[in-house]
Amino acid sequence: MGTAIIIGVGPDQGLGAQLCKRFATEGLNVLVAGRTKAALDAVVSDIVAAGGRATAVVADATSEADTIALFDKAGSDLELAIYNAGNNTAGKIIDMTADYFEQSWRVVCFGGFLFGREAVRRMVPKGAGTLLFTGASASLRGRSGYGAFNSSKAGLRTLAQAMAKEYAGDGIHVGHVVVDGAIGGEKIKTRFPEAASREERLISIEGIVDGFVFLHKQPPRAWSFELDVRTMHEKW
Ligand SMILES: NC(=O)c1ccc[n+]([C@@H]2O[C@H](COP(=O)([O-])OP(=O)(O)OC[C@H]3O[C@@H](n4cnc5c(N)ncnc54)[C@H](OP(=O)(O)O)[C@@H]3O)[C@@H](O)[C@H]2O)c1
Repeated sequence: MGTAIIIGVGPDQGLGAQLCKRFATEGLNVLVAGRTKAALDAVVSDIVAAGGRATAVVADATSEADTIALFDKAGSDLELAIYNAGNNTAGKIIDMTADYFEQSWRVVCFGGFLFGREAVRRMVPKGAGTLLFTGASASLRGRSGYGAFNSSKAGLRTLAQAMAKEYAGDGIHVGHVVVDGAIGGEKIKTRFPEAASREERLISIEGIVDGFVFLHKQPPRAWSFELDVRTMHEKW
């Protein structure tokens, strides 16, 4: 049984949790990683109850020590690693503190470097593995009021693209999924209740997860770097 590491797992109706559940049904032993133990435990108990294998690992994606310890837990069967941490950080530049900008970058981009580095350090010697990153509309364009998040997501995308080119020859498939719009999950529905009444304008979590599974299953003679996912209503 191969192992998957998925970091950035929160509520059940969120992308991280649903990625964990799907890859467990695909037969992988999932290390469910994030900062909030209760949320991780809930995902693990659902997976185990459904007959799958999973372990909760409390880890902060911005911590080098936590990231190394997380990958050490995966052992030699590491098959898939997904970097999903990266909550939106709104704010105008004129009012923004240096610390706020730096913290945004640490979670969205720097954590992706730590995670990607540890993944390839373990996958390259085996000559196989998939490393996927979650992107957003921000990965492709700047937007007023979101400069910290936009610049960090763009950095993460470029890092992923560089890694895709650097490690393809070693048998490592690196991919990036642009989630272009709001996800129809718990976060948007609780923070912006008016959005819940317009479900058709929220991206289906199941559809995004399908994209990750598609990338992971691509054969080495037909790899994609990037997939973008949006609703039929999105103006882009
Ligand atoms: N929600 C959207 O509408 C939307 C739209 C486009 C793209 N995206 C992208 O999709 C991904 C998932 O978003 P989501 O909203 O659905 O959230 P989610 O997958 O439900 O949860 C992600 C979880 O990551 C955890 N996290 C945050 N910082 C972390 C850190 N430093 N270390 C470890 N874990 C951390 C948070 O949980 P704790 O706070 O409990 O640690 C958060 O709940 C993100 O990369 C986001 O940028 C989201």
